[in-house]
Amino acid sequence: MGIEIRQMAAGDIGQIADMFDRLYGHLNSKGFVLKLNLQNIKPIIEASLSSNFSRIYVAHVNNKVVGFININISKINIKFKSETSKYIGNITELFVDSDFRGNNLGKLLVMRAKKFFSENGVEYVQVNTMVGNTRAVEFYKNNGFSEDYISFIEKI
Ligand SMILES: CC(C)(COP(=O)(O)OP(=O)(O)OC[C@H]1O[C@@H](n2cnc3c(N)ncnc32)[C@H](O)[C@@H]1OP(=O)(O)O)[C@@H](O)C(=O)NCCC(=O)NCCS
Repeated sequence: MGIEIRQMAAGDIGQIADMFDRLYGHLNSKGFVLKLNLQNIKPIIEASLSSNFSRIYVAHVNNKVVGFININISKINIKFKSETSKYIGNITELFVDSDFRGNNLGKLLVMRAKKFFSENGVEYVQVNTMVGNTRAVEFYKNNGFSEDYISFIEKI
């Protein structure tokens, strides 16, 4: 299997938008309540092409884009001490096509993201997922992350 992890290109936008759709369909099935606005997704993906603070990396296998990671760097809230770094790395989305899972593509995407973060002075990386998304929870634990907080949501 010829695997390449690379920064997204303009020609990947359609395939990445389709994976966003499948990712949020999956997350909705695990209890995430907000629905993806597909109309806004392509411009959001495109914007990362020209941003210094965000990246989308794709996993490219045999001429097909089969996974992606969407990341950005934000400032740590000034109420926290930041002796070593003022910035935090965020993984906002991670997805691998179900036919290609278990081939280390998720791991390679996270490793690429961490490289970008460390090159940009980031000390901590954070990611959220649903408590019921057990494979992703195990995946993050196996890739160096530990659980911190639980978030709650209520429809009012
Ligand atoms: C989480 C996800 C990105 C992992 O991608 P992946 O390419 O399968 O990850 P890897 O191959 O690097 O690692 C898979 C790990 O899960 C384990 N695993 C358990 N059951 C598995 C299964 N049925 N198929 C594949 N892997 C499985 C593997 O053993 C491996 O563990 P290891 O690192 O200890 O060997 C992928 O499962 C996915 O896209 N899930 C749906 C979307 C999602 O939940 N995203 C995260 C929330 S934003």
